[in-house]
Amino acid sequence: MCPKFNTVSEILRVLKTFIAYLKRPDLYPELGRKIVKNTVNRGNAFKGKEKTNSWAASTAVTQKEAVAMLFGIDIDPFRTSYADILKTADQREKECPIKMGGPGALELIYYACEFANAKSVVETGVAYGWSSLAALLSLEKRGGLLYSSDMPYLAQDGDQYVGYVVPENLKPNWKLFRFADKESLPKIFTENPSFDVVHYDSDKSYNGRFWAYNELYKHLRKGGIFISDDIGDNSAYQDFCESNNIKTTVVEYEGKYIGVFVK
Ligand SMILES: C[S@@+](CC[C@H](N)C(=O)[O-])C[C@H]1O[C@@H](n2cnc3c(N)ncnc32)[C@H](O)[C@@H]1O
Repeated sequence: MCPKFNTVSEILRVLKTFIAYLKRPDLYPELGRKIVKNTVNRGNAFKGKEKTNSWAASTAVTQKEAVAMLFGIDIDPFRTSYADILKTADQREKECPIKMGGPGALELIYYACEFANAKSVVETGVAYGWSSLAALLSLEKRGGLLYSSDMPYLAQDGDQYVGYVVPENLKPNWKLFRFADKESLPKIFTENPSFDVVHYDSDKSYNGRFWAYNELYKHLRKGGIFISDDIGDNSAYQDFCESNNIKTTVVEYEGKYIGVFVK
């Protein structure tokens, strides 16, 4: 089946993205995967969505409950302790000339790092860098490192704005890999094979998730924390947990579901 383009601007956006890919040979493998994903494999994005949403709705708790249950920590101090930094980050997001996704459950990420006494964290999906900021605020206390993977925003010339809300003073604790996960993650695992916390928030397709979940899980230490955003997009997270006998907590956050478990 051919992809459907609704407007001239959509056709132009696809063309612009395609040309930007052609200029970046390091992203050719992802270009090939994107073509397959958007043509023969279009159903993959929503595979099992209904089943997973009713499962998630039946078991979900709030972020506050999850952090208390799993880590025994109250999430309230985060917003007051980091009020100034979060306000500045918010202003940076507003000033940013390109538009990306906003903040997720920052307390969950921050307190996961605190609970795990994290010295090394890996995340997929950076955008403005809200999740990166949450992890870095904890990691900097221990001189730890965050390894992030993000596809540059090719259609918007947005490369330079990835991680825009992360303050300069936290950047020495941060390594950003600007490739697709399939290329970034092997490079990251060669540099650092074992992580205290992993956070997934990038390729939302079923296949992309399933591949990355298995890779991230292999490189998560025992007792480490696994977090995945937007698990209601399809059943990849539920299927991954069931096939590995993992008992997961589901968090409902702003109308979406996040999965989290301690390995
Ligand atoms: C929802 S945003 C991430 C938001 C971020 N975690 C935060 O809290 O601010 C998803 C990001 O994943 C990136 N992405 C999508 N597919 C990807 C892939 N295959 N490899 C790497 N990054 C990808 C997008 O470029 C986008 O920046």
